[in-house]
Parts: sequence; C-alpha cells; structure tokens
Amino acid sequence: MLRSHKLKEDEVLPSVRAIARCGAGTNNIPVPRMTELGIPVFNTPGANANAVKELVLCGLMLGSRRIIDGINHMKDLGKQGVARERVEKDKAMFGGREIKGKTLAVIGLGHIGASTARDARTLGMKLVGYDPGLSVQSATKLPRDMELADSILSAVANADYISLNIPYIKTSPEEGGTHGIIGHTIIRHCKPDAVILNFARGELVDSMAMKEFLDKSGEARYISDFPDDELWNHPNTIIVPHLGASTGEAEDSAASMAAETLRLYLEDGTVRHSVNFPNASLPAISPNNIRVTVVNKNKPGVLKLIIEVFAKHSLNIVQQINHSQGEIAYNVLDIDPDGTDLDFKELQKELTMNEGVLSSRILFGLPGTGYSRNIDGQYHV
Ligand SMILES: NC(=O)c1ccc[n+]([C@@H]2O[C@H](COP(=O)([O-])OP(=O)(O)OC[C@H]3O[C@@H](n4cnc5c(N)ncnc54)[C@H](O)[C@@H]3O)[C@@H](O)[C@H]2O)c1
Repeated sequence: MLRSHKLKEDEVLPSVRAIARCGAGTNNIPVPRMTELGIPVFNTPGANANAVKELVLCGLMLGSRRIIDGINHMKDLGKQGVARERVEKDKAMFGGREIKGKTLAVIGLGHIGASTARDARTLGMKLVGYDPGLSVQSATKLPRDMELADSILSAVANADYISLNIPYIKTSPEEGGTHGIIGHTIIRHCKPDAVILNFARGELVDSMAMKEFLDKSGEARYISDFPDDELWNHPNTIIVPHLGASTGEAEDSAASMAAETLRLYLEDGTVRHSVNFPNASLPAISPNNIRVTVVNKNKPGVLKLIIEVFAKHSLNIVQQINHSQGEIAYNVLDIDPDGTDLDFKELQKELTMNEGVLSSRILFGLPGTGYSRNIDGQYHV
C-alpha cells in the first residue's frame, strides 16, 4: 500500500502479489510494467469524496457572502484600532445572498457530484445535473427531484451556482477530453451573477474566458481549489491552495478502502477498483473446494493450456470465471479435490510455468497454498 511514493520497478520483488494506491491517481506506479508482471494495481476511487464535498459546500457559502473580504477588512480595522466604531457602518460593503431556493448545477454526478447534490438539497437548493456517463450506482444516490440536463449548456443556463466535478482529460472537448471545457461557449450561457465552483481541476476552466466574464459581469464569482496565473488576484475569485482532500479522515478512508480491496483480493480472489485488471467476483467458495487464480497473457490458446492441467489430473472444475482487460486475463477456478492425492505444489508449478501464464495462487490454506510467479521463464514461489 502506498500513497505518494514513486515506485520503481526494482522495488517490486517477486513476492509482491498486489499494489494498492491510497488515492485515485496511479501515476506514481509503473502500471504498464506491473501488468506485464501480472500484478494488479488498485486505487481508491471516491475515498476522499466527503472531504471534497465539504469544501464545495464551504465554497457555496464563500461565494454567496463576502466573508473573506469582510474578515480581511476586520483585520485592517483592528490594526487601526477602529473596528468597534466602524463595523456597523462598513458591513454594508459586504452584503450577500442566501443559497436556499437558488439553483445549483452539478456537472459530473460521480462520488463528489452526487454527494454535493444530496447535501445542497437538504440546504434547500434546487438542483440540475449533467453527466452523460451517469452510473446506476450514482443515479440511485441523487435527490429524486433533481432535474437532469442533456448538455452542460442547458445545465448552466439558469443556474445560480455551478459545481464542476468531472475528471480532467488532457485533450480538448472536441477530441473527447475536458481541457478548457468551461470556455467562452459555456461561460457565455451563465447568468451574470453565477458562482462557479471548481474543486475538480484547474485546467477544466479557460482562465482568460473566465477573467473576461468576471470583469464584464462584476457580480459573478469563481471559487477554485487550484492555482491560476490569470485569476489569483481578481476581486471576484477565491483561490484555495488545493485543500479538497486534505483531511485526516480522507487519508484514513483511502487507506482503509485500499486495505479492504487488498483483503478481498488476497482472501477470495475478488478484483475491484483495479486500474489494470478486470473486475471479478465469485460467490463464496464452498468449504469442500479449492480456489485457484491464474493471471495470464490475453492471447489465444493460453486458457486451453491452463484447463488442460486440471484435466490431466482429473480435477473437476466446479465453477470458473475468465475475464480479460487489455493485455491481461484473470481466471478464478474452484475445483473439487475429492478423491485426489495430488501434490498441489506440483499442480501450481505446472500451471504457472505454462507459456503465457504470469502468476497463480491457491487459496484457502490447503497443501500448495500460496503464490507463484513465472518471470521470464523463472519459477518464483
Ligand atoms: N480538489 C481536490 O483535492 C480533489 C480531490 C479528489 C478529486 N478531485 C477531482 O474531482 C473529480 C471528480 O471526482 P469523483 O470522485 O466524483 O469522480 P467520479 O469518477 O466518481 O465522477 C466523475 C463523474 O464525471 C462524469 N463525467 C466525465 N466527463 C464528463 C463531462 N464531460 N460532463 C459531465 N460529466 C462528466 C463521469 O461520468 C463521472 O460520473 C476528479 O476527477 C478529480 O479531478 C479533486
């Protein structure tokens, strides 16, 4: 399990069965090489969603009332020793509005977006959302009266607040990416007093287009969790130093999710939240059976070789799954060992040393229990 450590290939010994990153990104891990070695890499999507959601809610309030300007003003008055006499008169400069009854557009209804929508609803906001890839899991978590728009344009058109909760993909929207997706076209459709909250990624927003909009409207606000060379000093922006996921709870949540993901993989072969292995889950194994997992290159003929090993030893396969993703295939096979006096260590060696097999495991504490690897034709147990 690792967080920000930049993992090098030579740190990954033949005994390593799996790697979990306590966080969403995995660019500190040489994932393509791990795939070649048959090692699953896991991440923890959504583990920090609550922390980010709370900061988005904070952004809603900061964008509605001139709290930060007011606090800074109080400091100035305090320095001059005139806070008490000036405060009632000066507070007129920092008036604001309430969020209750206003419309929040949520762009991206994944872990953070759906959770933001739910809490905004309890604060009395009206909701409109846009997410062309809305998952069934997220859809069931949305407030029932949330309106779903068919484009970002129609979602933002009547919104008082807009929360961006989509991933950053380097290419332009025309090429399927999200770089600068909030540019002139979208911004032109925003209400002149809209508050745009960006706790997703700085590069989603075209800074120059946003600057023009803020200058022209005078009332709109941009609240962002990311540095911005154009907007950092604008009177109508609030720039936060990427604090979205910076809570102890978010770190704990990511670590415990990573640990649970590894436990499921090690104990029963389940694969979920992997960036390089296909999802796989089987019903609990019967106490009379043995579970074998095999990772192999996703090439024709390899599965046949694997099955032949079981057939050769007259082992009955009771249930089996075979899923593939890219270069890799992952097999989970439950076998009935009844009536065999087979040495499972031998079976495992035969399986693992097949051309195209990368690693195998025999689960549930019976003879041969363990893990073995085929690295460039060398057998490692
Ligand atoms: N500020 C921070 O510290 C911080 C922390 C965590 C995540 N984030 C950012 O927040 C983003 C969202 O996180 P999440 O956990 O909710 O991710 P998620 O994967 O659960 O949800 C993202 C959602 O966006 C949708 N989406 C993708 N492209 C879209 C588009 N063009 N228009 C509308 N919807 C689109 C997807 O279908 C998905 O449902 C992340 O990608 C990350 O960049 C920021």
